[in-house]
Amino acid sequence: MIRQFEWRDYDAVTRVWEAAGREVVPRGELEAKLARDPELFLVAETGRRIAGVVMGAYDGRRGWILRLAVHPDHRRQGIATRLVEALEARFVRLGCPRVNLLVLPDNESGLRFWQELGYLPCPDVLCTKPMQGGAVSAG
Ligand SMILES: CC(C)(COP(=O)(O)OP(=O)(O)OC[C@H]1O[C@@H](n2cnc3c(N)ncnc32)[C@H](O)[C@@H]1OP(=O)(O)O)[C@@H](O)C(=O)NCCC(=O)NCCS
Repeated sequence: MIRQFEWRDYDAVTRVWEAAGREVVPRGELEAKLARDPELFLVAETGRRIAGVVMGAYDGRRGWILRLAVHPDHRRQGIATRLVEALEARFVRLGCPRVNLLVLPDNESGLRFWQELGYLPCPDVLCTKPMQGGAVSAG
């Protein structure tokens, strides 16, 4: 089942990110994000376990997909596909015309997954700068 994140999920979501080798979003950053668009942070539940997670963001012009991860015990069962499709449906409802995301260049399986879903690479290079006293995690 795909549903919106609730705070009681945080430890389980953290475990999924860690098991998938993804950086964990600290609580403080997540609180700020959820104050804006809580309906774009989704989890996948199998039985009573959180098996996957995806975080969307909409800036009013473009949508962004961040921190998609599925626990290694639950891969190749279509969970990431269902998470992304559910998130896309929410972007469409918000009137969002295009969605972007970032994949590390050496993440071949991640790239294959995204291309299966119609997300094509473009040559832009990410540039980033933390603001004074700003975010500790990247992306
Ligand atoms: C990438 C990831 C989210 C995929 O999750 P998943 O639930 O296993 O993906 P799905 O089952 O929905 O896969 C859908 C399709 O994507 C492709 N795909 C997924 N994982 C793949 C892999 N390891 N190698 C090649 N193709 C893959 C396949 O075409 C797959 O369809 P199939 O199983 O019928 O062949 C998961 O492997 C993961 O968490 N990886 C680590 C974190 C990461 O890379 N995140 C995304 C990059 S930002």
